[in-house]
Amino acid sequence: MTIKLCTDTFDLKDPGSLKTYLDNNGYLAWKNIVKEQTPKSKIIEKIKDSGLRGKGGAGFLTGLKWSFIPLMDGQKYLVCNSDESEPGTCKDRDILRYNPHAVIEGMLIASYAIGASVGYNYLRGEFMDEQWKVFNDALSEAYEEKLIGENILSSNITIDLHALIGAGAYIVGEETAMLESIEGKRGMPRIKPPFPAIKGLYDKPTIINNTETLASVPKIMLNEPGWYKSLGVDDSEGMKIFCMSGHINNPGNFEIALGTPFSDLLDLAGGIFNQKNIKAVIPGGSSVPVVKGEVMMKVNMDYDSITEVGSMLGSGGVIVMDESTCMVSVLHRISRFYYSESCGQCTPCREGTGWLYKILTNIISGNGTQNDLHQLERIATQIEGHCICALGDAAAMPVRSFLKNFWSEFEYYVDKKESMVS
Ligand SMILES: Cc1cc2nc3c(=O)[nH]c(=O)nc-3n(C[C@H](O)[C@H](O)[C@H](O)COP(=O)(O)O)c2cc1C
Ligand code: SF4
Repeated sequence: MTIKLCTDTFDLKDPGSLKTYLDNNGYLAWKNIVKEQTPKSKIIEKIKDSGLRGKGGAGFLTGLKWSFIPLMDGQKYLVCNSDESEPGTCKDRDILRYNPHAVIEGMLIASYAIGASVGYNYLRGEFMDEQWKVFNDALSEAYEEKLIGENILSSNITIDLHALIGAGAYIVGEETAMLESIEGKRGMPRIKPPFPAIKGLYDKPTIINNTETLASVPKIMLNEPGWYKSLGVDDSEGMKIFCMSGHINNPGNFEIALGTPFSDLLDLAGGIFNQKNIKAVIPGGSSVPVVKGEVMMKVNMDYDSITEVGSMLGSGGVIVMDESTCMVSVLHRISRFYYSESCGQCTPCREGTGWLYKILTNIISGNGTQNDLHQLERIATQIEGHCICALGDAAAMPVRSFLKNFWSEFEYYVDKKESMVS
């Protein structure tokens, strides 16, 4: 696959510089829009028609989201979500590192289309040392070229973009918690509705998009209508970066057309370590249900195909596990993450994530009982769908799917007080 949207400068010399970006048709889409004063509705229609779906996890249609912004004048905001903390997901950090101008151009086009004069890129706290610097340098370069700021390229368009850095909490990746954090408050999700497009940052209409989503926008605008659609399959149009990790020979980020067979993606990632057999795959970041390896080998990497086998494409964080993996230990580790990252606002999530972790720790320590397995299922069911934000579901879904797919391994652990695979 040669066409890439977000990873197109990764292999070039000095990939993040303005020169490299300009040499590769960078800012051409934005310059055309500024010159022609393209009607906002035309841009939103083009993004809608492209079928671009949000790459942050939920896969919501980007153009449709932009169209929810009220038409009347007044302050509006754009927020780029670069918090990227979902275990298994490591794409946005590379886009920021190797193609920061694609994010900036995407933010400019999105801001213009929704009528926002201010945009923020909120970066994960751990990106302080590298991506934060690279992105801020890129912002300065773009300001110097008058691509951002007051009277952009001598037009009457004014858009200011800023970068912000978090303090290391997974929960601020949830869009409304991010808005709270930008406002200087503790990052806790808000009850929805109202949705941010109506009442967002400082109570003003706000659109929040993922880094990869926004970095995909310039090329869609630059190409003919129908181009992006032609790259993928129905309802999963275009490209997606999959972050391949786990028991594979060549881990990393791979930008491929949606609908590509998982087996091809696995080949790109060098196949399984030491010719071992594949046991399980988490296809979309640690919060989505696990799928048995033999099932995954027949699945295509698109939204519908992954849903059909009981999981989700999510953020594209693909964690591959071979036959030597203890599924009880993996679930124990995942549950520790959600327990420590719960913001504590909702009782089912605050208490439930703690109990899930406590029971799994008991099982791992050799003190588990058969009843504990049923208790895990009951607690997960009580969390799912009963919380303010999707972190509760993210904690519950792995538990239910690990038990469903690998019940005998959990039973073995509580009976024999040791792992089936050790
Ligand atoms: C607990 C939690 C963490 C999240 N973390 C991220 C994240 O790190 N990056 C991201 O883009 N979206 C994250 N999301 C999803 C955002 O709330 C939001 O849906 C997304 O940024 C919208 O962008 P998109 O439409 O371009 O996908 C998270 C959601 C939840 C519930
Ligand atoms: S579901 Fe969990 S993380 Fe989300 S608001 Fe409730 S307590 Fe906080």
